[in-house]
Parts: sequence; structure tokens; C-alpha cells
Amino acid sequence: SGPATVSPTGQPTGADRAVMAQGGEYLTTAQGHRLPDTDHSLKVGARGPVLLRDHHLREKITHFDHERIPERVVHARGAAAHGVFRGYGTAASVTRAAFLGKDVETPVFVRFSTVLGSRGSADTVRDTRGFAVKFYTGEGVFDLVGNNIPVFFIQDAIKFPDVIHAGKPHPDREIPQAQSAHDTFWDFVSLHTEATHHTLWNMSDRGIPRSYRMMEGFGVHTFRLVNADGETTLAKFHWKPRLGVHSQVWEEAQITSGADPDFHRRDLADAIEAGAHPQWELGIQTFPDTPEQTFEGIDLLDPTKIVPEELAPVQPIGLLTLDRNPGNFFAETEQVAFHPGHLVPGIDVTDDPLLAGRLFSYIDTQITRLGGPNFAQLPINRPHAPVNDMLRDGMHQTAVHRGTAPYRPNSLDGGCPFTAGADAGAYVEVPVEVPAGRKVREVPASFSDHFSQPRQFWLSLSPVEQEHVISAYTFELSRCYENAIRERVLRTLANIDPRLCQEVAEGLGLPAPEPSEPLADVAPSPALSQVGREWPVA
Ligand code: HEM
Repeated sequence: SGPATVSPTGQPTGADRAVMAQGGEYLTTAQGHRLPDTDHSLKVGARGPVLLRDHHLREKITHFDHERIPERVVHARGAAAHGVFRGYGTAASVTRAAFLGKDVETPVFVRFSTVLGSRGSADTVRDTRGFAVKFYTGEGVFDLVGNNIPVFFIQDAIKFPDVIHAGKPHPDREIPQAQSAHDTFWDFVSLHTEATHHTLWNMSDRGIPRSYRMMEGFGVHTFRLVNADGETTLAKFHWKPRLGVHSQVWEEAQITSGADPDFHRRDLADAIEAGAHPQWELGIQTFPDTPEQTFEGIDLLDPTKIVPEELAPVQPIGLLTLDRNPGNFFAETEQVAFHPGHLVPGIDVTDDPLLAGRLFSYIDTQITRLGGPNFAQLPINRPHAPVNDMLRDGMHQTAVHRGTAPYRPNSLDGGCPFTAGADAGAYVEVPVEVPAGRKVREVPASFSDHFSQPRQFWLSLSPVEQEHVISAYTFELSRCYENAIRERVLRTLANIDPRLCQEVAEGLGLPAPEPSEPLADVAPSPALSQVGREWPVA
């Protein structure tokens, strides 16, 4: 028998993939020619020149020369796992999404990541973590592409290249790997003060998780849910880790990133291998879908704002369990392609301007990263629902499509017998009213409130958590070269809390500025502290 069996579509699957991996009785070239030897090039005599005609030598080296693909432009470093999601059925009144039905089980693939480091960077740096979940539902793929921080740096995707340019290593020296400790990052976040909230979360213990298994996850944006009767509800998604939320302190993180830069990926893989399968409960906060799209005065379209859980409790709707490690990092963790626009019936987007840009960006970058438009055919990206599209040809096309008329209606291939829109299972965008207006580059007034929620976050932290925030700002700003940037950041801290500003300023040996606007009158939200955050699952 040959070295591999492949599926009818030409792709090795499951156990067959293991057969492909070095297990056959004999080696072959990519063309299936049996090889006598893969260790010695073809030469003229034992000491003579190597012959160019050695096809195996050239094929082996040429393939090797092209083994690397571009790393992700952000979230390059990640670790992933397979698992299963079980719906509780509790979301049925607000969404028709079938995978959320009671006891419906859906296979998932989850990739955790840091945002700014390169593929080879350390795990325990201070950074935001990606928390991307691919649900292979019977209605097509649903991707919930979230982070471990519930807000984002910017309110409009048009600034995304800018914030990432500011956060990535300096163009001249290519240092540092993490977001911490460099001037461009602090320059950006002090000039674009909508970044204050996300930055404060980064400087808190949330910036250095103890484990991927101990992070909350957030969909960040407000989504629009639609139920079987066509009624809509606005919602935010949350993942609650069964193990609670835990962090490393800065000193621990220095030791782990030095002694074991793979600390988080090792922890995830070891836990799963040992049978300690990590679990998260998926929950939603729901809000009436009013024309204003606000809740208790909070603008639901502003991705720099949360809705405190005391105002809108998180209602559990399902359970995620990760129970299988990837068998091939490249084929799965590296080639997986998430997209916030991969939605299933019952879940739709809102007009959050950050989300609008994301809906464009992911597929665009993946065309470069994965070498053309056919990456949905890669095993890790394939839907577990029937695919019947009219996308044809292109780089790395592996499907052999039958028929001659990839368009509808047609009079050659049976006319393409489906009737558009008649299928009750189809994804239909919610026909919401779009407010009429002038074409402008403006933001609503509510987007200009940059400090009230950072203040609320700060006031919600325990004294120890606050100490960690003060130390983090003091250390990171002490690494800036430019005093003007430090002073500008201190002015943002003054608008969060005078003591925070005072203590960081003292640590830096600088005067503490006065707030430039009245301090927001906000009550602490206990759910924002990570102390005592545990969600034992029944
Ligand atoms: C990748 C989350 C905003 C562009 C990712 C990943 C996550 C993520 C988790 C990693 C996916 C993976 O593991 O493969 C978020 C969140 C955002 C946000 C939660 C804000 C709420 C944006 C914006 C843009 C953007 C505004 C662009 C306009 C990208 C790109 C990638 C990426 C290009 C790389 C995708 C790939 O190469 O496969 N993002 N992101 N993101 N994100 Fe975002």
C-alpha cells in the first residue's frame, strides 16, 4: 500500500493525516515516485559535483524554501485547541441561532493569542489577548472573534493601522516585542484619549493572564440578535472561565517569559492532555433594540464602553469545553481564518464603526496570508454544513467543481434549482431602519466621553489591584525616552483619578497635573475587579 489514504476530496482526514506523517512503508516524491534515499544528493562520484538534474534534491529544497507563510499582521502568536460547545436553550427567546438550542452540541476551534508580538515572542508579556472561537454549526460557521478585554483602543476602524503602527516595534530599532515600554504606543494613546479605557485594562492585572484557561472573553461590540418571530434584541457576548480570572504579577511574568517563553501554550496543551479540560460559560447581556441604541445612557455602538454587569446581568446560554490539542500547529492554529462577518441566522451586526472595518479587514488580510481566495477549503476552515457556492478557480483551488454553468438561473445544469430567499434556514440580514443623514466624517457626542468608564474601572479595583496599576504605569512610562509623552499621559491619568496620577507622577519624579475636566460621578462596578470572579458550572 502507498504511504497515505486520502478522502474523496483529495484531503487527508483524521487518522489518515497521521498516516501521512512519516508513517508509510516507503518514502516518495510529491509525485508518488518511490525514493531509494533521501540523505544523499546525486553526484558524479563520491567526491564529485552535485548534479542539477537531481529532481528529489531540488523538490525537497524548493518545498522547504517556501514553508513559511506571512505571520498574521496582528495576533501573530497564538495557541489553539479543539472542543465542543453545548447550548443551554436559554437564548431561544432572543435568537433563533440553532446552535444555541438546548443540548445542541457544536464542534469548535478556539485560538488564543497576544496582539502585538511576533510569532516567536514570549507568552507572558503585558498585552491584550485574542479569544477567537470558530463554531462549526449546522447552519454554517459562526466566528466570535473577541478579546480578553471588553473594550477597544479606538472607535473607528480607520484608525486601526495607526494604533497598530504605534504599538508594534519601533520601525527603526524593531524593539520592543510587547506593547509596553515604548514611546510610540504612549504617544498614540495620549493623543487619542479614547484609548484610555483599554490602556487602563492593559495596565491592570488583566494585561498578564495567569493562563489562557483563566481569562474572560468578550465579543466587545454590540450585536443584534433576532428570534424566530423576527424580533430583535441588542446583545454583548461574554465568556466566563470556570477556573476564575487570575493573573501573574509583573515579577512572575518576568521569570516565566525568561524561563519559559511558551508558558501559556504549554499550560493549555498540558492541561488538555492531562484531561483537565478548560471550560467557559458563554453569556449575553441583552438590551432593548431602540432607535437610540443606548442603554442607561451608555452608547452601545461605542466599542470603548462597557455596560456594567450590575445594570445588565450576564445570562448564561451555553458551555464551551476544550478537550483536544491540535495535531499539527501549521495546518490548524496557523491556517485557521476567523472573520467577524461569519454569522449564522439569529445573529447580526450593528453599526459600530469599528466592527464595520473589521468586516472588511479579515478576509482581505487572509487573501495575502493564506495565498489567495480559497482558504475556506483548508480542512480547519471548512464548514460542517453543505457548501454550494459559485466561487470558482483562483490560487490553491482544490475542489473539482462539476457542471458548466456556475451562475443562476441557468438552462444547462438543471437551472440551479433553489429559489433565492425561499429557504427558511437562510441568513437574512435584519431589515433595520437606517437613519438618514448627511455624509460626514463625524462622531456622535457620546463618543467624546473618554474618562468616565476608565474612572469607574479604577474605582472598582481592590487596593492591591490598584497598586499593580500604579506600578505598571510607573514602570512603562519610565521606559519612555520623551518627557513630553510622559507628561501627556499623566494628564490623562489626572482625568481618571487624582491619586492614580499623583502616585505615578511621584514615581516618575514629575509634577502631577490637575484634571482638565470634572471627574465623572460614577459608582464602582464590583464585577470589574477580578477578585473572587469564579463561575462554577452546574
Ligand atoms: C486578528 C480581535 C479589531 C484586524 C484578530 C484576532 C483576534 C482579533 C482575536 C486573532 C484571530 C486569530 O486567532 O487568528 C479583535 C477585536 C477587535 C479587533 C476583539 C476589536 C474589538 C480589529 C480591527 C481591525 C482588525 C478594527 C481592522 C480594521 C485584524 C486582522 C487580523 C486580526 C487583520 C489578522 C487576521 C488574520 O491574519 O487571520 N483580531 N480585533 N481587528 N484582526 Fe482584529
